[in-house]
Amino acid sequence: MTAPAPWHATIITLFPEMFPGPLGQSLAGRALKDGIWALDALQLRDFAHDKHRSVDDTPCGGGAGMVLKPDVVDAACEGAAIAARPLVYLTPRGAPLNQAMVREFATGPGVVLLCGRYEGVDQRVVEARGMREVSVGDFVLSGGEPAALVLLDACIRLLPGVMGAAESADEESFSAGLLEYPHYTRPVEWQGRAVPPVLLSGHHAEIVKWRHAEAERITRERRPDLFNQYTASRGALARPPAAA
Ligand code: ADE
Repeated sequence: MTAPAPWHATIITLFPEMFPGPLGQSLAGRALKDGIWALDALQLRDFAHDKHRSVDDTPCGGGAGMVLKPDVVDAACEGAAIAARPLVYLTPRGAPLNQAMVREFATGPGVVLLCGRYEGVDQRVVEARGMREVSVGDFVLSGGEPAALVLLDACIRLLPGVMGAAESADEESFSAGLLEYPHYTRPVEWQGRAVPPVLLSGHHAEIVKWRHAEAERITRERRPDLFNQYTASRGALARPPAAA
């Protein structure tokens, strides 16, 4: 039997040497060596066509910074042989990355990631190529590369064969719409702090109940936005189907 094609990540960047970076280590690194995923990082400058190999120009309308040129970015996208893979432009202006989006990317054939630098990318090529604009949080990085590493890490750990039972994704934060309950290990008493007694009771049903209540409490306190989504979706499940 032939092995399935690896999940394929292509990065378009001015700093290809940043990849795989930390993704060459640990779970992702092992999966890369095992051929579960594959990576190619394209140097954007290789797609410039003038003798100075320029990739950017001043913004129309004036202002600070530089804008990546649409023709150069378009040529790089062509070079990435996108096929069925989504083309994602990492930008603080994008839709916030979440676990549902990660799951969607991880179940497809891979991704093509465009890393912005400077002020950004000419909007015409973003539109013409149907790019998905994605942000990894409400803060500004110096470029899209660390954001690409974050997105890739989140996808790779979900690929079949990457996580063993020990690292299973089933109960983790967000998989059920809640943040995860807190964890404890031995010693059962440390610096005057005890492990919650229910966790030492051996009572499996009680432990499950306690963990679920803690997950709800922590989500309500820290992320009221997530908690409201969670209660709304549970409400929808509990409601009888609408009459035809
Ligand atoms: N590039 C710069 N900041 C970013 C962010 N927060 N998310 C994605 N790409 C970025």
